[in-house]
Amino acid sequence: MANKPCCTQYEMRIKEPETGEEARRILPQNECWNGKRCQKGEQHFRDLVENSPTGICIVQDGRVVYRNPEQQRIFGPLEEGPHPSIFDRIHPDDREELALMIESTLSGRAPHMGITVRFTHVSGDTVGEMAMKWLHCRTNLIENEGRPAVLINMMDVTRTVEIERLLKLKDRMISLGHVAAGIAHEIRNPLSGINIYLDAAREVLEEGEDWQGLKDILEKIQAASSTIESVIRRVMDFSKPSEPKLVRMNINKPIEDALGLSSAMLRKSGIEISTELADDLPSCMADHQLIEQVVLNLITNAAEAMKDMKAGKRIVIRSSHHGDWIRVSISDSGPGISHDLARKIFEPFFTTKENSTGIGLSLCQRIIMDHKGSMGVATSVMGGADFAFTLPVST
Ligand SMILES: Nc1ncnc2c1ncn2[C@@H]1O[C@H](COP(=O)(O)OP(=O)(O)O)[C@@H](O)[C@H]1O
Ligand SMILES: [Mg+2]
Repeated sequence: MANKPCCTQYEMRIKEPETGEEARRILPQNECWNGKRCQKGEQHFRDLVENSPTGICIVQDGRVVYRNPEQQRIFGPLEEGPHPSIFDRIHPDDREELALMIESTLSGRAPHMGITVRFTHVSGDTVGEMAMKWLHCRTNLIENEGRPAVLINMMDVTRTVEIERLLKLKDRMISLGHVAAGIAHEIRNPLSGINIYLDAAREVLEEGEDWQGLKDILEKIQAASSTIESVIRRVMDFSKPSEPKLVRMNINKPIEDALGLSSAMLRKSGIEISTELADDLPSCMADHQLIEQVVLNLITNAAEAMKDMKAGKRIVIRSSHHGDWIRVSISDSGPGISHDLARKIFEPFFTTKENSTGIGLSLCQRIIMDHKGSMGVATSVMGGADFAFTLPVST
């Protein structure tokens, strides 16, 4: 009779998320392989858990009922009492999310979940080994002493988070380099224009009272200075895009508003526009104004790409739903984008147009990334470009 599992005092079992049935015993049971209490299985399990490089704890009724040594090392001592709470030193901004995760796991809605939270060591130090840490926590629904409990695996990801932050900073510095080069390039022309017009204005003034001539020159100076102003504004938009104000919405709304804003321009340019917007879209968290800006940018680019075409100018905007994602695409019947070009167009200041900034697509990509989505380009069925972005469905 060698086919029964072994014994333990913990009796923890993982429930299968789909069936709710007990599927895998992470602790052996109170039965033994050969009818007598098996010490081996229990010892084996203890060795695994107690020497795990992952912090492991069990939370039941909002209290910590078990912690392995790594969890004790990461967390340090908890408050006094036999069953302390886990929330005490979790960062206040992260407590709600952790509580929600534990609750969703317990209720069986999401038996396995993972989030990253911040916590402060009991020492309260702000630098060094005991300073605030980032923990990646994964939960599992288990049974402990016959009742549901949550097993939490914790990994200290402080170093990874720090490296990620430094890489982002480096990326920002590189972008700033592009931005600086772009500003110099974009501003040089209108600025030298202003200098020339100022000389001309001085001559007009010295020669007499040609007010009309002076007025024309002043207008040219004003136009050049507004060009500089618009470059600076666009650069500011890029280097410090406004924080998205995310609200739950149907993504079709900002798309329709962007269409409304551009329809006159599209009609004038002889472009036929059509939409295939899914009417059963789940909602997503998005900033109306920023998504409208992305769609407007993509429509404008498509219109500009088709400006030399005599006929057959078409734009199709689609929205659809695929699992956890919403997809929006803007495709056109223009010349399309070659493979080589496709790698460059999202770079800040890359443009193939005269008198353009090359900022549009990099700004769009930045906005979509801020929404935790992604953006890319392909060839449309009409032979032109097909720009698409995805956004996560809100839970
Ligand atoms: N729909 C499109 N069809 C073809 N080329 C495009 C399209 N959209 C963008 N591009 C290419 O990508 C480049 C970068 O676009 P963008 O970042 O918006 O800057 P800009 O419009 O100022 O040039 C454009 O100059 C163009 O070459
Ligand atoms: Mg553009």
